[in-house]
Amino acid sequence: MAKSIKNICCIGAGYVGGPTMTMIAAKCPHIIVNVVDINEKRIAAWNDPDVENIPIYEPGLSDLVGQTRGENLFFSTDVDAAIKAADMIFISVNTPTKTYGVGKGMAADLKYIELCARQIAAVATTDKIIVEKSTLPVRTAEALRSILDHTGNGVQFDILSNPEFLAEGTAVSDLLHPDRVLIGGEQTENGKKAQKALVDVYSNWVPKERILMTNVWSSELSKLTANAFLAQRVSSINALSELCEVTEADVNEVARAIGTDSRIGSKFLKASVGFGGSCFQKDILNLVYISQTYGLQEVADYWEQVIIMNDHQKRRFAKKIVKTLFNTVSGKKIAIMGWSFKKDTNDTRESAAIYVADYLLNEQAEITVYDPKVTAEQIYSDLNYLGTRSDEENRRLLKVVTDPKIAVEKAHATAILTEWDEFTEFNWKNMYDSMLKPAFLFDGRMLLDHEELKSIGFEVYTIGKG
Ligand code: UDX
Ligand code: ADP
Repeated sequence: MAKSIKNICCIGAGYVGGPTMTMIAAKCPHIIVNVVDINEKRIAAWNDPDVENIPIYEPGLSDLVGQTRGENLFFSTDVDAAIKAADMIFISVNTPTKTYGVGKGMAADLKYIELCARQIAAVATTDKIIVEKSTLPVRTAEALRSILDHTGNGVQFDILSNPEFLAEGTAVSDLLHPDRVLIGGEQTENGKKAQKALVDVYSNWVPKERILMTNVWSSELSKLTANAFLAQRVSSINALSELCEVTEADVNEVARAIGTDSRIGSKFLKASVGFGGSCFQKDILNLVYISQTYGLQEVADYWEQVIIMNDHQKRRFAKKIVKTLFNTVSGKKIAIMGWSFKKDTNDTRESAAIYVADYLLNEQAEITVYDPKVTAEQIYSDLNYLGTRSDEENRRLLKVVTDPKIAVEKAHATAILTEWDEFTEFNWKNMYDSMLKPAFLFDGRMLLDHEELKSIGFEVYTIGKG
């Protein structure tokens, strides 16, 4: 008989842990869910009396938190107490790309995972099922197992891999109707019981046939490769977008033609200024690094090309702006619309906007940014993180505004970098009137009605059209 789970702890209240635990709490009222994080500010925001102030913007998430928080969903910084009380512990901490030492710039930094494992081992006095939720390189469970077994209090630990496939911006609906839930377990009797215990949690709302069980290693590797395949499609269509621009083919038409082949399918064929987000780049670099460590250089090179193409796409877009503005943007005002890596999220990790802005700032442009959900402090922190110039300089050259009309006032050019719906509803005639002429518009998301913009008077450039 699988153990019936009554108390869940999730370590890490981020973009994965927060929404996932909220959904478990909403669908399993009989389970107490404690979400813990060492970041006091983040936990305070999750506990803000006004649910609109929770730290993560996702359509529908605030409502769900409102329904469950204080009932069976709790946010706290008391990690030890939550570990002690739990039957099952999800590890949902960040695994950034290493910025130092061996594997710098490629391998995942597992120090936060290791700290969690050590803390669990030190604190646990009863048996626990440990669930890897963060995206991890294949064979991480081995390290977890070793730490838990060598430093624990003799209690039993079962390790599962249950990677999260939700996409940001659609987290709530992805969690509600997942294509699949993947549960990797150790191939032992206890491992199978642990797997079954987690299946029982998901079965409260996910149809049984969508819950896939594999061994731990397949599950860990599937998450990395699912993201690599998706990113590869975006880089493929982006590579075609450049070809379209010189051949007078239209990348949207090409994408439609390719996408109607049911063997290929229509999704992830939207050319853009480049993919961003916390997963794609990190996971591919990870895959490249793992391949290299096993001596598989061709495999590593193959996947690395997806990243090289993506960097090229971002740079190419920024270069196009400079070239079009008569080869100089020095002292010119450029309005950037959108900073998040895609619409409906306030997450900016690896967003194309950061790199485009940095390129333009190097060319001495003056930038104004408008994004409906990203804060000014986040924008400066993203730029400062690149280390290209000082914080003071970034703040002097780039201004963040809360009104799109102010962003475009006396601007030489406007660039759309995120596909926020509200951009399509702007009064573009008024925008045009307040810009300098010729008024250039660069659509990095193929979002707007370009014929209409041209009839207003804009000089329009879009990805994938000559
Ligand atoms: C991704 C995976 O989709 C998800 O399953 C995984 O759990 C985490 O990583 P996410 O990063 O939230 O999710 O966003 P996704 O919708 O995959 O988009 C990633 C990037 O690719 C975005 O910058 C998006 O704008 C870009 N993209 C996506 C395109 O440029 N064109 C497309 O056709 C699709
Ligand atoms: P993701 O997108 O994977 O959810 P985030 O960076 O949004 O990543 O969230 C990870 C969270 O994990 C952060 O809020 C961070 O403070 C938290 N965290 C990292 N290490 C620990 C730890 N040892 N104990 C508790 N929380 C941690």
